[in-house]
Amino acid sequence: MTTLIKNGLVISPQGAIPSDVLIDGEKIVAVLTPGDTSLGTNLSAGADRVIDAAGKYVIPGGVDAHTHMELPFGGTFASDTFDTGTRAAAWGGTTTIIDFAVQKYGERVQDSLAAWHEKAGGNTHIDYSFHQIIGGVDDDSLKAMDELVNEGITSFKLFMAYPGVFYSDDGQIVRAMQSAANNGSMIMMHAENGLAIDVLVSQALAAGNTDPKYHSLTRPWETEAEATNRAIMLARMTGAPLYIVHMSAKQAVQVVQAAKNEALNVFGETCPQYLYLSLEEQLSQPGFEGAKWVCSTPLRSKAEGHQDELWKYLRTNDLSIVSTDHCPFCFKEQKELGLGNFSAIPNGIGSVEHRLDLLYQGVVDGKISLHRWVEICSTTPARMFGLYPQKGVIAPGSDADIVIYDPAGRTEIGFHKTHHMNMDHSAWEGFNIEGHVDTVISRGKIVVDNNEYLGHMGHGKFIKRGLSQYLI
Ligand code: URP
Ligand code: ZN
Ligand code: ZN
Repeated sequence: MTTLIKNGLVISPQGAIPSDVLIDGEKIVAVLTPGDTSLGTNLSAGADRVIDAAGKYVIPGGVDAHTHMELPFGGTFASDTFDTGTRAAAWGGTTTIIDFAVQKYGERVQDSLAAWHEKAGGNTHIDYSFHQIIGGVDDDSLKAMDELVNEGITSFKLFMAYPGVFYSDDGQIVRAMQSAANNGSMIMMHAENGLAIDVLVSQALAAGNTDPKYHSLTRPWETEAEATNRAIMLARMTGAPLYIVHMSAKQAVQVVQAAKNEALNVFGETCPQYLYLSLEEQLSQPGFEGAKWVCSTPLRSKAEGHQDELWKYLRTNDLSIVSTDHCPFCFKEQKELGLGNFSAIPNGIGSVEHRLDLLYQGVVDGKISLHRWVEICSTTPARMFGLYPQKGVIAPGSDADIVIYDPAGRTEIGFHKTHHMNMDHSAWEGFNIEGHVDTVISRGKIVVDNNEYLGHMGHGKFIKRGLSQYLI
C-alpha cells in the first residue's frame, strides 16, 4: 500500500519546506521538493492513496517521552489504560509514547518491567517504549540496569521526592548514576527535596491548611531548585547523563542552564501544565476543585513569573523537551481521596491528547517558532531517548508516523467536545487552539482522519531504544 501526501509544508527542526511525502507500507520512502522528478512526473497516478495537504503542515508524529498509564499512586491507579491512553494520544497527533515501568522497593526490576510489557503488549494504538523507575537501588537493581540497556530500556527514573515510596537517598542516587555513567544510559530525575517537603506538609496539615492549593505552597520553588542543583552535582561527580523531568520553577531551570553552559550532559523537560496553568488560576479554585490540578512538581505562582521564563527557556533550548507527564485521575473517588487532606490527593494531570495543540498555540502566540514546535514535541524526544531516526523525522527510511496539521483549523478543548482520555473531567476545559490535528498516520496506517477514529488496539508495537543521541 503506497500513500502520497502532496502539496504540504513539511516542518522539521531545519525549517519548513514544501514537499510531497511518499509512504510505502510502514515507512517513508521519499520526500520530494517541487521540481524533483527523480521518481517520475506523475507520482499521484502510481499511488494507492493520495492525500492533498495543501495549506497544511506535515510534521513527524509526536513523541511523548513521559506518560503514566495505570500508574499505581496514592492508593489508586492512573485511570488510563494503555488502550484508552494511547487512543487519546493518537487523537492528538502523538504516535509514540514512552511510559514508565515501576519497580517498587523489594521487587525485582526485571519482574516490574515484565509487568509493564504485560499491561501494554497488544493493547496500544500507537508505538511505545518504556523508561524504568528504580524504586529501590541495591546490588540487584544496579545489575538489572545493565541488563535492561541491552533490552532497549536505556533510561532510569529516580525520585528525590516521596520518602518511603519511590524515594532514593543521595547514596543510592550516586550508585545508580555510577551505573548509568558506565552503561551509557540516562538518569531521569524527579528533582524535589522530599524530606523538606514532608516537614512543610505536616506543618500545614497541623495548622488546618488542607485545601489543594497547599500542595503547591508546601513545595516551594526552593525545594525544586535545591534538588535540581544536588542532582546535577552528583551527575557531574559521577559522569552520568541527567535529564530533569517535569520542571516548573524558573530558578531550577537556571541551574540546568548553568550546567549546559559548562557542556555537561544535563537536560530539562517541562510540561504544558507549567506553561499555561497556575497556583492562582487553577489550584486555588474554591472548595476542592483545585484537586484537578494537583501534580508534582506543582503548578506555580503566575505572579512569580515562572510561565514566561519557561517559554523563554524553551526557545533557548535550556529546556529541551515538552512531555505531558500524563497521569490522569478521575475527580470522583480518585482525586476525592484527598478531601480534607491535600497530601492524599493523587498527583497527576491528564494531557496526552493535547500536547501538540497546546504547544502549537505557543507558535500562534509568538512564543516559539514553527520548527521549534516540531523539535520539542517530536525530534528532540526521539533523539534524547534513542528512537531517532526511526521516529521524530520525516525522511526516507523513517517510520511513517506523520501528522497533517491545519493551521486554519480550530480545536475547542472540553470534556464534552474533544475528550478521549479516561477521566471524568478535563484539566484543559475551555482552552481554544487556533490549529487542528486533521490526519494522523502511525507506521503507514491512518488512525485519525477528519475527526474520525480509524485506529485500533493492537496496532502499536514495543520499540527497543538505543542510547541517547545527545551525549558527548
Ligand atoms: O504528579 C505527577 N507528576 N504524577 C506522576 C508521577 C511523577 O512524579 O511523574
Ligand atoms: Zn516525577
Ligand atoms: Zn511523571
